Amino acid sequence: MSPAHFALSLLLLFLCPSDASLAPHQQQQKPQTVTLKTTPDPQIQYHNPKLPPRPLSLSSSKKFEGSSDLVQLRYHMGPVLSNSPINLYVIWYGRWAAPQKLLIKDFLLSISHASTGGHRSPAAAKARPPSPSVAEWWRTVSLYTDQTGANVSRKVFVAGEHEDAAYSHGRSLTRLSIQQVIATAARAARFPVDHRNGVYLVLTAEDVTMQDFCRAVCGFHYFTFPSMVGYTLPYAWVGNSGRQCPEVCAYPFAIPGYMGGSAAGGPKPLSPPNADVGVDGMISVIGHELAELSSNPLVNAWYAGEDPTAPTEIGDLCEGLYGTGGGGGYIGQVMRDGGGRSFNMNGQRGRRFLVQWVWSPVLKACAGPNALD
Ligand SMILES: *[C@@H]1O[C@H](CO)[C@@H](O)[C@H](O)[C@H]1NC(C)=O
Repeated sequence: MSPAHFALSLLLLFLCPSDASLAPHQQQQKPQTVTLKTTPDPQIQYHNPKLPPRPLSLSSSKKFEGSSDLVQLRYHMGPVLSNSPINLYVIWYGRWAAPQKLLIKDFLLSISHASTGGHRSPAAAKARPPSPSVAEWWRTVSLYTDQTGANVSRKVFVAGEHEDAAYSHGRSLTRLSIQQVIATAARAARFPVDHRNGVYLVLTAEDVTMQDFCRAVCGFHYFTFPSMVGYTLPYAWVGNSGRQCPEVCAYPFAIPGYMGGSAAGGPKPLSPPNADVGVDGMISVIGHELAELSSNPLVNAWYAGEDPTAPTEIGDLCEGLYGTGGGGGYIGQVMRDGGGRSFNMNGQRGRRFLVQWVWSPVLKACAGPNALD
């Protein structure tokens, strides 16, 4: 990116196409609210921070930064999650604070929020999150199809929740014991086996360690084995890295200390949109895993590379990329609100999130709702 281009990117861009005629002072008189905000904030500006690379780049060999020549994303004839809705069964493993659960659920429920269904009343339209939205971000995921031409569903619901606050399988989990966590939850009442539409989302609290967490993965997805769980269903796991390795898994809300930080004039981490480094960081990883789970649920549908045991999937291809002009240390053009918090998409109830982009099979590049071109 040229210096001139970068300077241009720092210009204030007001995100209020429909309210553009409102003078700023008129908007300032409106009460400032954190949730249920539907009017564009005149203080929102774009920025494209350059940050140091992660200490352990989880996919340094997989960085393509939008270059379609290098990417051979191919379809391997397996199913995608085309049954609608995709029913998420969320397992809260360990102790979770109610506001953290609400924040994550607001993200999950925002995926379908643009689909107004039959409700076309002005009230329903007004409640819809403004663009760029989480639902628009998911639209790229729904461009993936199976061999019958069926698309990934645009509807994602939280169909059930199970709390495992007693750490039924301990505080140190492995890739296999995660399946026992799922089996325990599936045996619980009110947590049915949903063979047609169900996927499991296991979220571990910040005091739970996981095999390879922080060293090789921030989350992963796979499918359950009949010998462990009794049947085969796709699942994803994502951990709260807030206390274990935020500079790895909650990046860019935390960056390595040895980079000097703001005191030494070095780059500063971004301020998380909901003031929770661990959970705001988790949300981007959850988005990454759900996108891959939906387009490659049995690891035989959409991935690049020849090795199905280490597939490069639609989230991997765009890791660390959140906006236009990303790459080479830049995360891309994202928005910053009046309080300095960074985000790139809007969700339900006035929530804002910073979620990485995903690979578009149509554009053959990383894509997101906040793209400037
Ligand atoms: C389904 O995917 C195809 C191919 O990417 C796309 O052209 C089409 O618009 C998608 N349909 C829906 C309903 O998303």
